[in-house]
Amino acid sequence: MPAARFQVRPARDDDRLPLALLFAAVAEERDGIASEPPIDVEECAANWKLDATFLAAADGEVIGSLHVDQTRFGFGEIGMMVARDWRGRGVGGALLGAAIEWARERGLHKLSLGVFAHNAAAIGLYRKFGFVEEGLRVKHYRRANGELWDAIEMGLLL
Ligand SMILES: CC(C)(COP(=O)(O)OP(=O)(O)OC[C@H]1O[C@@H](n2cnc3c(N)ncnc32)[C@H](O)[C@@H]1OP(=O)(O)O)[C@@H](O)C(=O)NCCC(=O)NCCS
Repeated sequence: MPAARFQVRPARDDDRLPLALLFAAVAEERDGIASEPPIDVEECAANWKLDATFLAAADGEVIGSLHVDQTRFGFGEIGMMVARDWRGRGVGGALLGAAIEWARERGLHKLSLGVFAHNAAAIGLYRKFGFVEEGLRVKHYRRANGELWDAIEMGLLL
C-alpha cells in the first residue's frame, strides 16, 4: 500500500464542524469512545476546545484528532479518534507523537488517559508510545444498552 498522505496541525476555528462530524461518526460505532449517539453536532462544534487540539487532514478533510486537556496539576488528559477508513495507517501515531512533543515543550510532567478495556487498537497505540497501565476501573461506564464497561487508566511520564 502506498504511504498514507496526511498532515498533522493545530486545529483552527473553521475545523469545528468537521471535528464535530467526525466525533459523531465515531460515536455511532458505540465502541471506542465514551460518547454515544445522539450527538448534537452543532453544539459539539460550538463547544470544541480548539486550544491543544491537533488534527490530521488529508485532501482538506479532517481524518483524525487528539485533544490534550491540560490540568492545573501538571498532567494532561488525552482524548483521540481517527476516521474508520484511515485506521491502521499511522494517523493515530502521528497525532500522539505530536501531542507528546507539544506536552514536553509545555513542561507537562505527564500525559494520562482512560481507555475501554476491550479497545486493543488504542491500548496497542498507547503502549507503543510508552504509556503504561496504572489501574482498572471496574464496570465504570454504563452504556446506552445497559452494559457496564471496564476502563483502563494509562499514563506516560514525560
Ligand atoms: C485507537 C486509534 C486512535 C488508533 O489510531 P490508528 O490511526 O489506527 O493507529 P496507527 O495506525 O497510528 O497505529 C499505531 C500503533 O497502534 C497500534 N495499533 C493500531 N491498530 C491496532 C490494532 N487494531 N490492534 C492492535 N494494535 C493496534 C500498533 O502498535 C500500531 O503500531 P504499528 O503500526 O507499528 O503496529 C483508532 O483505532 C481509533 O480512532 N479508534 C476509535 C476511537 C478510539 O478508540 N479512540 C481512543 C479512545 S481511548
